[in-house]
Amino acid sequence: MSELLVVGSANVDLVVETQRRPGAGETVLGGDTRVLPGGKGANTAVAAAKLGAGTALYGAVGSDEYGELLLDSLGEAGVDTSLVEMTYRPTGIAYITVTPDGENSILVSPGANNTVEPDRLTDALPGAKVLVASMEIPRATVERAVLDAAAAGVRTILNLSPVARVSGEALAALDILLVNEHEAKWLLDGGDDLTALLSLGPSAAVVTLGARGALVVESTGTTELEALRVEAVDTTGAGDAFAGALAAGLAREVGLVQAAREATWVSAYSVTRAGAQPSYPWATELREWSLLPSR
Ligand code: RIB
Ligand code: NA
Repeated sequence: MSELLVVGSANVDLVVETQRRPGAGETVLGGDTRVLPGGKGANTAVAAAKLGAGTALYGAVGSDEYGELLLDSLGEAGVDTSLVEMTYRPTGIAYITVTPDGENSILVSPGANNTVEPDRLTDALPGAKVLVASMEIPRATVERAVLDAAAAGVRTILNLSPVARVSGEALAALDILLVNEHEAKWLLDGGDDLTALLSLGPSAAVVTLGARGALVVESTGTTELEALRVEAVDTTGAGDAFAGALAAGLAREVGLVQAAREATWVSAYSVTRAGAQPSYPWATELREWSLLPSR
């Protein structure tokens, strides 16, 4: 079995570049549609596998063309797809607009992702060192995954994206809560004392700050990690790249702060290229890139 188990969604991303986003009742003409593999779970799995972690995705796609596209992308990255079910519901689709500043907005139609049940987890957990879950699948499945993994002694990361309430029980069992600053604020009811994230239950929290880097919040103190300066082309899936790299680092048994530092590099690399999965670095590309003086 794989050392890293990713529990989450797989979507096909239909990406259109636009000068600006349409408002309600408005029509705007954009560029050609690109069809790319995405979804927070699949993205995380691809990011980790490209870095060399033995990774499996636990999720679902439809038995359609888009499902095949996702299985191909996962397979090419080296992700074990034996736990990806083919279901009667259509493959999840994300409708994504990207503006010239590299920012995106995303509408997700979950389809097959809504069929991901926790019942197959018992077969999936043995052999795993780290489990990472994200939120485009039913909440109860994510909660069950965290609880079962914790009970089995597997290290757990919850990328709480898109942000949602999860049970206090699951948060208390959680090792690492991964959120961006907006998700953190939402969880803290508007508060900005990030150390309060630990009182929700997790042993540690990692807060991504986009171009400003990331914070690692532990009971012993908070560590600030600066981001590399890059030209953003497309930030889609940068958070998932971070999650995958963080999990891959922990699977390699580096410390949390070092794993988070590596994750800031990987997400910085990903924003310099278009799309989510296709923009993630292979381990060798990351090594070469980190040696370039021009960054
Ligand atoms: O986090 C980025 C991802 O969100 C995209 O790939 C899209 O599929 C949505 O799930
Ligand atoms: Na990208």
